Amino acid sequence: MKQLHKQSTMPISHTPKLYSPKSQKHIRSLPRSLTYLLREQRLLFIFVGVLIGSIFFLLQPSVNPLSSATPSADQPPRIFSANRESSVRYQDPNYEHNLGTRNNYRYASGVGRIPVGIGRKRNRIVVTGGAGFVGFDLVDKLIARGDDVIVVDNFFTGRKDNLVHLFGNPRFELIRHDVVEPILLEVDQIYHLACPASPVHYKYNPVKTIKTNVMGTLNMLGLAKRIGAKFLLTSTSEVYGDPLEHPQKETYWGHVNPIGVRSCYDEGKRTAETLTMDYHRGAGVEVRIARIFNTYGPRMCLDDGRVVSNFVSQAIRKQPMSVYGDGKQTRSFQYVSDLVDGLVALMEGEHVGPFNLGNPGEFTMLELAEVVKETIDPSATIEFKPNTDDDPHKRKPDISKAKELLNWEPKISLREGLPLMVNDFRNRILNEDEGKGN
Ligand SMILES: NC(=O)c1ccc[n+]([C@@H]2O[C@H](COP(=O)([O-])OP(=O)(O)OC[C@H]3O[C@@H](n4cnc5c(N)ncnc54)[C@H](O)[C@@H]3O)[C@@H](O)[C@H]2O)c1
Repeated sequence: MKQLHKQSTMPISHTPKLYSPKSQKHIRSLPRSLTYLLREQRLLFIFVGVLIGSIFFLLQPSVNPLSSATPSADQPPRIFSANRESSVRYQDPNYEHNLGTRNNYRYASGVGRIPVGIGRKRNRIVVTGGAGFVGFDLVDKLIARGDDVIVVDNFFTGRKDNLVHLFGNPRFELIRHDVVEPILLEVDQIYHLACPASPVHYKYNPVKTIKTNVMGTLNMLGLAKRIGAKFLLTSTSEVYGDPLEHPQKETYWGHVNPIGVRSCYDEGKRTAETLTMDYHRGAGVEVRIARIFNTYGPRMCLDDGRVVSNFVSQAIRKQPMSVYGDGKQTRSFQYVSDLVDGLVALMEGEHVGPFNLGNPGEFTMLELAEVVKETIDPSATIEFKPNTDDDPHKRKPDISKAKELLNWEPKISLREGLPLMVNDFRNRILNEDEGKGN
């Protein structure tokens, strides 16, 4: 008992000052929250915690896994593809410019390392129809620029293969979805491309084409309104129909057959433009309208009835090139990267439009066939076929508005652009012959 008594008195004399009855008494006189903090060295633990947190955030940018996907000034962007086309894309001179801009942005404040969440704000962008021919190039450009991209596509004419090089990239997402149904996403910008563009495809199910243009555009405009996103519509030169004005300016209202076999597309796009302007005027949605003229390039569908892809595929397969009618109807052909530059300039600019985006170089179908012969096979032949209904006689954009307000004009001529798509077509036709085509 004596010993026990002795032991019980020991801790009191060895307890640090804070635990002495005197200091306990002193603490008890403070407010309860302060008393809690001062007890049992909690304050010390809080300081150590804050210190560790600060050190972590200072070092964070250099260990952030996403930063490896974001290219640095002296390092090309990480490419998730074995596809040579993609690596060539990153050698584009514009890429250097974009890179410079991005890095200037990042380091503009003069701070060497910026903690995550405080640096450049990345745009979150949805591209409907992003698995299609134009979508492919647009998505690649946005990803290379450093944005987060979500592609929404039902794969009617688009292919997953077009995007496979981006699978595994943390800034890329792919959603199988039909735009005639509503979708809820949180994004800053919407590029609305979803719609089959070639006559073979849009005539296949005309009612669905109208639905895509009307309900699809309504759904995407509704989304833009709800979340305050910028919306860009890819309309078409077909809104001018068989034009009575040449070249076509944006002020021209068109000459369109409302009941013809092409009307599902032409009138569908005209309605989409109307909806876009009504959401702009009535609901204050920030919108952009591009009227796209004939565009060509790698990854077009091989047999979609568009004249450039038709001629190129036929010449490679040693088949006669099909010229519809007398071949004297004219078109203007722009290379796809020029179009994509124009779309981005329009989205980033301050003007609603509509803007004609096309190459003003004008060719008859017979002249186009000659260029294809020169490029692919001088012995290629031509076969005349009856013309299709409502085929416009002339098409040539007046692009002075885009030149002046977007500072945009196409750079690649038909003779420069055609060889750039031929290799891609040759490989795919070869694969097709070997049973691997798509
Ligand atoms: N390429 C041109 O020459 C040209 C000319 C004028 C206008 N445009 C417009 O540009 C856009 C893109 O054209 P493109 O040449 O890439 O066409 P494309 O047919 O290659 O691509 C269209 C994409 O939209 C998708 N799509 C179609 N319907 C859809 C739906 N209901 N829901 C979700 N996805 C759907 C397709 O699967 C495809 O991936 C289209 O809106 C087209 O009208 C193109």
